[in-house]
Amino acid sequence: MASTGAGEGNKTAAGSSLHSKTLLKSQSLYQYILESTVFPREPDCLRELRVATATHPMAGMAASPDEVQLLGLLIEMLGAKNAVEVGVFTGYSLLATALALPDDGKEVNKGWFDFAFVDADKVNFLNYHERLLQLVRVGGLIAYDNTLWSGSVVASPDEPLAAATREFNVAIAADPRVHVCQIAIADGLTLCRRVA
Ligand SMILES: C[S@@+](CC[C@H](N)C(=O)[O-])C[C@H]1O[C@@H](n2cnc3c(N)ncnc32)[C@H](O)[C@@H]1O
Repeated sequence: MASTGAGEGNKTAAGSSLHSKTLLKSQSLYQYILESTVFPREPDCLRELRVATATHPMAGMAASPDEVQLLGLLIEMLGAKNAVEVGVFTGYSLLATALALPDDGKEVNKGWFDFAFVDADKVNFLNYHERLLQLVRVGGLIAYDNTLWSGSVVASPDEPLAAATREFNVAIAADPRVHVCQIAIADGLTLCRRVA
């Protein structure tokens, strides 16, 4: 179990929560990842937004720097040109996505998408999933944030959002329309590649 998993469960913590959002047991190991691999590759404008977001009283709501780096790499590998995000906050993950798109790529709010990132109200994740399966092309990727909910899916499974998250995880694992992978990065990230 994480010692410092932040997630939205810790969203009122001071701004540093944006930089401590991990399920890793070692906070110093997480800082090492950020400082060795993430921050040196971070575009200036993304760094500026991250630093500004870290002063927000609800900074813990933002996606983590290592998580948006992973999403950017996946977007590049996918050759995505159109992307959508559900749950924007200060726009940190949205900007990271935009920076990973090619020059003719777009963040759009309607049409046919290659990539979607869902980071809004957790109780609606299954509703978003059904909608996005109509909007994301076959072969496209849908990424869902906070799918381990600071570890509460195991530690406090009856907590309302933990229960909703468990229900979502069970449904996704059984959904033949997607190939899935649960990643223990940030607060838990579930990748779904649409296959049907
Ligand atoms: C966890 S934050 C998003 C963080 C953002 N992805 C980032 O990295 O900075 C969740 C956001 O979703 C928004 N939200 C909550 N419910 C929503 C809904 N039903 N539709 C759209 N946005 C919603 C909240 O206002 C909040 O800005």
